[in-house]
Formats: sequence, structure tokens, C-alpha cells
Amino acid sequence: MTAHKILEDDALDALFREARTFRAWQKRDVTDVLIKAVYDLAKLGPTAANCSPARFVFIQSAEAKERLKPHLDKGNVDKTMSAPLTAIIAYDTQFYDFMPQLYPQSPHARDWYAGKPAVIEETALRSGSLQGAYLMLAARALGLDCGPMSGFNKDGINCEFFADGRWKVNFLCNIGFGDATGMPARGPRLPFDQACQIL
Ligand SMILES: Cc1cc2nc3c(=O)[nH]c(=O)nc-3n(C[C@H](O)[C@H](O)[C@H](O)COP(=O)(O)O)c2cc1C
Repeated sequence: MTAHKILEDDALDALFREARTFRAWQKRDVTDVLIKAVYDLAKLGPTAANCSPARFVFIQSAEAKERLKPHLDKGNVDKTMSAPLTAIIAYDTQFYDFMPQLYPQSPHARDWYAGKPAVIEETALRSGSLQGAYLMLAARALGLDCGPMSGFNKDGINCEFFADGRWKVNFLCNIGFGDATGMPARGPRLPFDQACQIL
């Protein structure tokens, strides 16, 4: 039987208690090796029928950043342009074409989705958003900081980066080594009794 491991306090601090949303960044690059290590952890998180609909575009070069810039809300421009990396967390509207690779135990798994736009959209957004969260936790686990954003022009980013219409943006996330100078205290969270029920 597999022993269930419980993380040490310092790991819980890094993943949750001390992890914050960063909006300023140290001038320190995120290497391609580290980007791949983040993905190799994030890809292991669960999705519906292992459909893995998220796609990640890591915007690193100055040229690619300039393509992103006009589509950002004004308040997100500086934090994004100064980040070493900005991930476009997207989803593949034809994720079901990979079902034979991802869920070979059910030969008809593609048919659960193909030709059903509402099911495709709901599945891609639900599991794709979870994968975005796995990416952030994987980044934190490997010593990086994150700054997720939904303040951008969706159509603009889709047109600029996904012109063929197959992938669509879900949200953006700046990634790097955060600069906590002047960061305000963390906002309150709902206590258990307000947010949860045990039935
Ligand atoms: C999906 C999503 C969208 C967000 N959009 C923005 C944004 O457009 N601009 C921004 O500055 N922060 C944005 N945030 C950051 C949140 O305000 C922040 O994560 C939240 O207040 C918690 O802060 P903390 O992690 O420091 O506790 C977003 C966060 C998430 C998860």
C-alpha cells in the first residue's frame, strides 16, 4: 500500500500561506529548463477523462511581449511588460482529437465531445482552468511567483496569437521571481463557515 505523504510546513508556506499574487518582478530570467519543469508537473493534474484541454504559450521575447501589449488592460501593462515571462493559458477547442492518445482505454472517447459545442466549451473551460491553477502551483513549487490576470481583450489576443481559431485564450499569468517591495497585506478570505458546507 502506498503511504500518503503530508507536506512539510515550508512546502505549504511556499504553495499557499506565503504565496502571493505578484505585480513586480526581480530582473532575473526564467530559463527554458525551468519552464519545461513547471509544465512537466502541471500536466499531471487531473482533468475530465484526462482530456487535458489547456494549451500554454510562454511569452518570453521582447518581440512577443510587444504583440501582447496592445491587448492588455491599461492597469496590466507595466506588470506584464516587466515580467520575465507571461503565460497565455489557452484551451484547444478540438482537444477531443487527442482522446485516442490520452484516454486509450475508451476507444470512443472522442465521440463524447466531437460535434457537441456546448460540451466542448464547458469541458475545455473547466478542465483548462484547473490546468491553469496546476501551472501556478507547479511554478510556486519550483520557487517561482505568479500574477494571474483576466484584464485583457480576449478577441485581440485570440486574433493575434490564435488566428486559425482553434486555440482560445482563457487567462494570462505573469511568471518570474517576484519583488515584494511595497506589497499590500493579503486580502481577507472567507472563513470555512461562510464558504463551505459539510452535509
Ligand atoms: C483569474 C484571475 C484574474 C485576475 N485578474 C487580474 C488582473 O487583471 N489584474 C491584476 O492586477 N490582478 C488580477 N488578479 C489577481 C487577483 O486580484 C489576486 O490573485 C487576488 O486578489 C489574491 O491575491 P493574493 O494572491 O496576493 O492573496 C487575477 C487573479 C485571477 C486568479
